[in-house]
Amino acid sequence: MHARPDPIEADNAFRDDVLAGLSAPIRAIPARWLYDRRGSELFERITELPEYYPTRTEMALLNTVAGEVAEVAGTGDTVVEFGSGSSAKTPILLDAVKPSAYVPIDISGEFLRLSAAGLKRQFPTLPILPVEADFMRPITLPEQVRARSKLGFFPGSTIGNLVARTAVDLLRAMKDTLGSGSWLLIGMDRIKDVDVLLAAYDDAQGVTAEFNMNLLHRINRELGGTIDASAFRHRAIWRDSHARIEMHLEALHDTRFTVAGQPFAMRAGETIHTENSHKYGHRDARLLLLAAGWGVVREWTDPEDKFAILLAEAEPPRFAP
Ligand code: AVI
Repeated sequence: MHARPDPIEADNAFRDDVLAGLSAPIRAIPARWLYDRRGSELFERITELPEYYPTRTEMALLNTVAGEVAEVAGTGDTVVEFGSGSSAKTPILLDAVKPSAYVPIDISGEFLRLSAAGLKRQFPTLPILPVEADFMRPITLPEQVRARSKLGFFPGSTIGNLVARTAVDLLRAMKDTLGSGSWLLIGMDRIKDVDVLLAAYDDAQGVTAEFNMNLLHRINRELGGTIDASAFRHRAIWRDSHARIEMHLEALHDTRFTVAGQPFAMRAGETIHTENSHKYGHRDARLLLLAAGWGVVREWTDPEDKFAILLAEAEPPRFAP
């Protein structure tokens, strides 16, 4: 998840989202604005925290199952990764499925160039064809790979950061991008013990708190905000009705501030909702994928069922009763 690359467009979009989000009856700012340079650095630190199990669990699981993915989906496909592929997970998959080409798609050209350069060193003969685009919408893939069979890769449980209807829109766009006969390998975090979830999103070292609070500093820095960050605290909440962790910034006392010259007042206890992280049970995950036209063929989880990797096949359109 990265912010838009064009600085002027990005400034306007950030300002518009912040002003609209702070003016709404239930205040909320889109989570993508958490990921400026500092936010991305803090997120990297989160992935290494003892409490934050998803990254290391998915990585270990992928190491175990990559060979089976190749057995089921076959080798020699074009791997299309939704995201920059800067993580250590990509080489595990590429090693196993021996793709004929690798197409990373990301909205940030900078991330794409960095990760493509890193992968080129590890896979010198693999054609790497980066595409700078917003993968929330269907994308025309490079000419060279259009006619080939494809395996989409969307690790990290990033799908969990979207509400169900947006998640289905994204999965459908991925299906349109990849085409009929394609596969999708996706990581999804499981519903589990609430204490484990809360600790993962409110760690003892306070890194997640800093990640969340960074949004206030970003608003002050980039939008001339006057927010007193010490008037806020990080809150992680388990919203059982929606099977999700919510991150909020909660006002500790009544506070007033301006953003881009516009005044705002918040009462003690009021919050700004900054992120959702949905968790999926076995059936929920299948239903979400099915709603977007993906039929789950295989599913793997770690021994404690903390995290799942699913392999789905694009379902052909067919009549239903
Ligand atoms: C990027 N995404 C999958 C993370 C998650 O777990 O939802 C973002 C995150 N927010 C706080 N900690 C991690």
